[in-house]
Amino acid sequence: MADISQDELDDIYAFAVNLGKEAGSMLLDAAKLRIGDNRATQEQKEHVQKENAVDLVTETDEELEAFIRKAIAEKYPLHKFVGEESYSKGASRDYLIDDSPTWCIDPLDGTVNYIHLFPMFCISIAFIHKSKPLVGVINAPFLNQFFSSCSGRGAWLNESQQLPLIRNPIPPMPEKAPSGCVFSCEWGKDRRDIPDGNMHRKIESFVNMAAELGGRQGRGGMVHGVRSLGSATLDLAYVAMGSFDIWWEGGCWEWDVAAGIAILQEAGGLITTANPPPNEATAPIEAVKLGSRLYLAIRPAGPSSTETARETQ
Ligand code: IPD
Repeated sequence: MADISQDELDDIYAFAVNLGKEAGSMLLDAAKLRIGDNRATQEQKEHVQKENAVDLVTETDEELEAFIRKAIAEKYPLHKFVGEESYSKGASRDYLIDDSPTWCIDPLDGTVNYIHLFPMFCISIAFIHKSKPLVGVINAPFLNQFFSSCSGRGAWLNESQQLPLIRNPIPPMPEKAPSGCVFSCEWGKDRRDIPDGNMHRKIESFVNMAAELGGRQGRGGMVHGVRSLGSATLDLAYVAMGSFDIWWEGGCWEWDVAAGIAILQEAGGLITTANPPPNEATAPIEAVKLGSRLYLAIRPAGPSSTETARETQ
């Protein structure tokens, strides 16, 4: 497969940005209509179950994916398409990201938030080539936040060239990290053993880990907080922005992370497929392999944090 030139990538980026904006308006319209109708929340966002009672899909997910898929097929008929809703409808699992130019889409990440009218939901569009996410667009229209990146060019919030709120590179972790850090973790949709058992276990181990890491810093050492937004895509964008220091989730799909990884990496953030320390403290930060389902994203440690990072291992 031939390489993609920077000019071609710039065109792909411009196309993805426009597509993200159009899809964002559609999402806003769909949400507004329902918010305005004064009905109970559950009726406002009708949904059906996919794998289980917490794996949900709405008409909006499907409409947006159909719109995005059609636009991509018209503009780039030879490119491969991987989308959350297309997959759910029974596509083979063999689609896995390979070397071909591929669009990887989550038309509505944070579907549960959307159903509950919690504004942390977004459209996620990534262009991947040779298994590397090169262009990322994340539009969270209710937050008025539009994240984007193009490999070799930069990463931005609301496309602001003058005031890139995604600083490139992003600032390093606090000097005494993990003291003073904000951690983020998603609990996923796995409820197999006991209902909510996996979720409780994950929450407990993640919070314990945050407390333990904070405690190791001695007096005054303290993790500032642990968050869970309900959108893996937005978690990655907030690590890229420097708001979160660490994000972890086990159980993601490619469409949950592809655009976020493109943006994070372009902003200088790090991503690996490890568990957070202390479980896999020595796991190297390496080129991420899409499809592994387990991801850890962190802001880079500053030079003065080296000792601190060593201590946590
Ligand atoms: C989900 C969200 C959630 C994460 C799940 C994802 P969806 O995506 O990102 O935060 O925990 O792993 O599948 O279903 O809302 O598109």
